[in-house]
Parts: sequence; C-alpha cells; structure tokens
Amino acid sequence: MSDRSSFDKPCIAVLGLGHVGLPTALGFVEMGWEVIGADEDASKVEKIGSGQVPFYEPGMNDLLARGLASGRLTLCHRVEEAVRAATILFVCVGTPQKDSGEADLSQVESIARIIARNLNGYKLIVEKSTVPAITAQWIKKTVARLAKFVNAPGQQVAEFDVASNPEFLQEGKAIENIFHPDRIVVGVESERARALLERLYRQFDCPILFTNVSTAELIKHAANVFLSTKISFINMVADICEEVGADVTQVALGMGLDPRIGREFLNAGIGFGGYCFPKDLRAFMYLAKEHGVDCGLLQEVENINLQRVELFVKKVQQAVWVLQGKKLAVLGLAFKGGTDDIRESPALRIVKALLGEGARLRVHDPQAMEAARQELPPQAERLEYCPAPYEAAREAHALLILTDWKEYRELDLAHLHELMEVPVIVDGRNLLNPETVRSADFEYVDMGRSSRVAAVESTTQLTVNNCAQ
Ligand code: UDX
Repeated sequence: MSDRSSFDKPCIAVLGLGHVGLPTALGFVEMGWEVIGADEDASKVEKIGSGQVPFYEPGMNDLLARGLASGRLTLCHRVEEAVRAATILFVCVGTPQKDSGEADLSQVESIARIIARNLNGYKLIVEKSTVPAITAQWIKKTVARLAKFVNAPGQQVAEFDVASNPEFLQEGKAIENIFHPDRIVVGVESERARALLERLYRQFDCPILFTNVSTAELIKHAANVFLSTKISFINMVADICEEVGADVTQVALGMGLDPRIGREFLNAGIGFGGYCFPKDLRAFMYLAKEHGVDCGLLQEVENINLQRVELFVKKVQQAVWVLQGKKLAVLGLAFKGGTDDIRESPALRIVKALLGEGARLRVHDPQAMEAARQELPPQAERLEYCPAPYEAAREAHALLILTDWKEYRELDLAHLHELMEVPVIVDGRNLLNPETVRSADFEYVDMGRSSRVAAVESTTQLTVNNCAQ
C-alpha cells in the first residue's frame, strides 16, 4: 500500500474496527476522506469487506455499503501497512480493564510499537479510545524510544505528534453521534496537529474545544463518570420515592427542567452497564487513588449500581414469593435498547442471579440473543431462548422487563394476559405506563414510581372495603 497522503488531503488510518473504530472510519469516508480501516482480526476485516457489520448498530449496514461503493475505504488486517500509507492515525483499539480496575493499555502500547517501527514520514497519532489521562505521554515516549532504536544510528527519526480526540459515541445512536455531535474535543500539543484536526472537523457546526492532551483525555473520562453518577443518584432517589410515596419520573422531570441539571440520564432502573461506564468508572477511581485523590464519592456510585441487581431480584421475589421453580419471562438481555451488546449487562446479571435461585427462565431480546447464548447456553427446563416476547410469556408466573427496547413498550397487554399463568409484570426500566398496565388487570411493580405507601394505602382501602362487606 503506497503512501496516499498529502497535507492538502491527508489519508486517515483507523486502527481497530470495533464499536468505535468502524463508525469513525465510515463517518470520515462519508465526509469525503480517504480512509484505511485496519484490524489485526483478519476474519473481521473480511466480514466488513463483504458488507457485513460485525455488530448490530442501526443504519450502519447502509453506511458501510456506501463506504465500500465510494472507493474511498480500504480495509486491511496488516496494521503496519495502514500506518505507512496514512498521515493521521486514529487509535481505536480496546482498553479493557484489569482485575484491579486499572485500564489495560496493552493494545494501545502494541499500536504505539507498530507505529514506531513504521514511521516513514510525519504521523499524527490520535487517541480515540477512552484512556486514562497521561496515556498520550506514554504513547509519545514509546514511539520516540522505539523509533530511535529501529532507525540506523545517525538516521533522523520522522516527526510525529500525539493528540487526543475522544469519541462520545453511544451504541445504538452511533450515526447520529458521528454526523451531529454536540461537541468535538481535541487535545493537541503542536500547531501542526491542531491544523490537521481543525481541517478534519471544520464542516461541523458544533463547538470544537481545543485543549492540551491530558485535558482532552480527562474530559472523556470525567464525562462518562459524571453520567454514571447521575444514574446512580436517580436510582437512589427512586428508592426514596418508593418509601415516601413519590414518583421518580416526575422527580426527574422536575429536577431536569432546571437547565443546570438537565433531564437526560435521570432514568431510574436496574443500573448502568455496557463496555464504557462500569469500566471507565473503575479506571477513574484507580487513577484517583494512584494520585492520592479521595474517590469515595465514586465508590458509592459503583456500590449503588451493583446493588440494583440484588434489589431487582428482591422485587421479583416479593412479587412471586418463592423463586424456586417459578416460570419467569425475561424481556431484554442487552445492556440497553438499540444494541446487541451484552458486555456488563445488568440484565444478564439478573438472569444469572435468578437462575441461581432456581427460577425457570424463558428469555427474549430483539438483537442480543446470539451473544447471550454464547455466554449462557440454554439449559433444559431452566433457560430457554424464545424467538418472540409472547413465546417467552407463555405460562409465565411473572414477566420481567430488563432492557428498554422500544418494541417492549408496544406489547399487546391483552394478549400477554391470555398467555401468562399469573399476570404480574416487574418493570426494571419503567418502560410501561403503570395506569395502562394496571387497567389491563396486571399486578405491576416498577422502579420508584409505585410507592410502597400507595401499595399500603390500597391494601388498607381493600381491607376497609372487605370489612364493610
Ligand atoms: C456511553 C456514553 O454515553 C458515550 O458518550 C460513550 O462514548 C460510551 O459510553 P453507551 O455505553 O453506548 O455510551 O451507553 P449509554 O447510552 O450511555 O448507557 C449506558 C448505560 O446506562 C446503559 O446500561 C443504560 O441502560 C444506562 N442508563 C442510561 C440508565 O440506566 N439510565 C439513564 O438515564 C441512562
């Protein structure tokens, strides 16, 4: 692959074609840039090359088809070739976590080594993956050290810059996020790097924030941690709501109308999951601890989140009494609606906990069943994967909603009622309208909207009525 870059029209390489890399690559292609998408996983590259997106993301298949047809997208599994052919290198490899919570940066380091060995001209290395602050300094040091080692003594090492341009993509909304970002954050250390990235993003009309590299790294991490904090906060409020007879969705609305707070990410439920929030929270705590900063606040955010699973299982138990042998319909396995991703999914943790209690589960998810089946194979009479929510509901003693899929909002309640053995719904995402569900003759339990006070009052009312008869 020859060097296809010029400063006027620099070629972009996207290194790593996962949930971040592939949308990033396709986004730049759509905007008219020449892009080389590289991933060491040859079978993944082949799949993408044949027009198949390796994960579920609405609209991504069409974007890939257009990208392939445009002639501006080249795919390869030899990362070094992509490095040599391009000027701007977006690092989009995974940053999983170690048991300690620390971010595992071995894939980032490995990319830095490959870049150092293939530094055939100026390169702008851009971190896209979420990484702890000062990772860029390590990339810089690694590339500089190894490049010197690779070059013959006396031979000049090609110049390079390291920048941070974190992605804020949400799974399920990647296309909207790429083409209509609410902000673009760019951390740079040189005018040259700034000019290149400015050129790349000048067609966007959102705010572009230029900072130093560590600040940009921190913005992404802090944003994810703050959003996790909002979720744990509202989950704690939901528990209080149940005790005092308040409705958490209205509390969230009332709070959110204050522009200093905002309504988004104040949906109470079974807690946050996914590849980013739990991992970024732990990595941020690790970073804080390492630098002697008290992160007790964040420890509580995590504690509240982990307790949601236990709390939900308790709600199910209170709804059906003995869990052993109960037939439960489970709707939703993905960590949120709109994706097939089950990484750190609270839904899956609940499924495992219920299986541990001896419940018999019939589960459904519109997109995540294949992934879930691999992690949790079917078990005769214990765990069955069903092709439709109504199949899952057949003869169930209760139906549990664990993922906020749009289609679950539109379920035919009358049909569900006919199918189920006992009409009980435990809604872990506050997806359904309590009045509609109760008027369809279901017992309904949710997360902080139907208070215990109301339950006690209605029981009292019932008792009084019964006595009067
Ligand atoms: C997140 C960030 O939003 C995104 O900016 C970053 O680039 C990657 O991480 P994502 O992991 O796709 O995106 O999911 P997100 O939509 O943020 O939801 C994360 C989790 O929080 C999900 O489990 C979701 O169900 C939960 N959540 C979200 C709530 O429980 N309540 C809410 O109000 C919002």
